[in-house]
Amino acid sequence: MINEKLEKAFNDQINKEFYSEYLYLAMQAYFERLNLKGFVNWFTVQVQEERAHAMGMFDYVHQRGGHVELEAIEKPVTNWSSPLQCFEEVLKHEEFVTSRINALMDVAEEVKDRAALSFLDWYLKEQVEEESTVGDVLATLKLIKDDSKALLMLDKDLAARTFTAPVIG
Ligand code: FEO
Repeated sequence: MINEKLEKAFNDQINKEFYSEYLYLAMQAYFERLNLKGFVNWFTVQVQEERAHAMGMFDYVHQRGGHVELEAIEKPVTNWSSPLQCFEEVLKHEEFVTSRINALMDVAEEVKDRAALSFLDWYLKEQVEEESTVGDVLATLKLIKDDSKALLMLDKDLAARTFTAPVIG
């Protein structure tokens, strides 16, 4: 049976993961407005990944005999001044999520739940990967500046991203 404090911390993180899904869906809509279909595809995959992250924890809490209580999802920002500014926000958000996963692991450590710690290791590694992937796109956008031809080339690259359901835990 999962410790009550840890169960609450998992529930908070489930909400953050669903918020991430919502935020990236808002970004997907922003790129639809810009008609940059490769970026749209990149966010379609990102949205699916966030749902998988949320559901991985949702299933885990149940597996450990706990209860999931879904809270309201915060309204995300819906507009950005440029693709560059949008990706600056993506990186900021992923860094925030990393800090939340670390805080969740602190609680697991505090209540000496080694099984939860080992489960959360996957999320920690995933955050390293997410920050790196987003950092790469951001670095390219910084190089591109106002070169629309180069932006279209990046858009073409981002069209190649595909979703593979992760095996969590
Ligand atoms: Fe679920 Fe992008 O962190």
